[in-house]
Amino acid sequence: MARWVCINGEVVPGEEARISVFDRGFLHGDAVYEVMPAPGGRPLFWADHVERLWASAARLALPMDPDAETLRAEVDAVCAKVGGDVYVRVIVTRGEGLRLDPADAGHANRVIIGQPLTPDPAAAGGYALHTVHLAHASLDAKAKSSNKLPVVLAVAEAKRRGADEVLRVDDHGFVLEGGTSTFFAVFGEAVHTPPLESDILDGITRRKVLQVARASGVAVVEAPIPHADLAAAGEMFVTSSTRGVVPVRRLDHRPLPAPGPVTATVQAAYAALVAAQ
Ligand SMILES: Cc1ncc(COP(=O)(O)O)c(C=O)c1O
Repeated sequence: MARWVCINGEVVPGEEARISVFDRGFLHGDAVYEVMPAPGGRPLFWADHVERLWASAARLALPMDPDAETLRAEVDAVCAKVGGDVYVRVIVTRGEGLRLDPADAGHANRVIIGQPLTPDPAAAGGYALHTVHLAHASLDAKAKSSNKLPVVLAVAEAKRRGADEVLRVDDHGFVLEGGTSTFFAVFGEAVHTPPLESDILDGITRRKVLQVARASGVAVVEAPIPHADLAAAGEMFVTSSTRGVVPVRRLDHRPLPAPGPVTATVQAAYAALVAAQ
């Protein structure tokens, strides 16, 4: 696979990419990141990803020394090497430091990984979701950090049960989000999703899907969803930057239409938005 990596400005083939074992991202998960598709080598919704990367870093008091223009030039260089449609991951770590104390950290390390963007085979027929009671997937759901162990283990459990993705539920029985996706349920004709006040990531695809759904005349409700209420939902879907809108074909043991008619409308509206970029 044609993987290319840019480490602190230097572009190298993936198999030659090296980072110090003293890097705090490796040692402590002390890093922030973004993942985006770059169809034809052009990163989709770049401005949103840049804004969220800086916001994540600010929430973790992680100094960001590259500027957005430098980062973009490096992403473009990696995409040019990979060619075609590219999966892009941008990672900024707090630098090197064996001790936990951030005061111990050296200079931030920035890494851009690019590889061919391939569709998730599991997404083609829709996802099976496995409900997990996991109120906190990480320290701060609003910061996209590399510290992911609770959700890594939850996804492993979901896979053992034959599911593709988890559906996290908080301590009060309210639905949160997937391991790496935003959750939506369709009640009647209306699309419901947990509000940003809940412990979820401010998903970029979430923003765009809500925007195009409203513009297509689909009613949208951002309100807490008790997990027990999902029994009354006729359709569900999840979203993420690299996968777009993925219908849910099963929630735990309950089969669902994948896609149902409202999900299909949202999928088409989102695809049109992406095509227009
Ligand atoms: C926890 C979590 N929620 C939601 C999402 C979807 O966010 P986006 O649409 O910005 O990719 C992700 C993406 O990786 C995620 O990690």
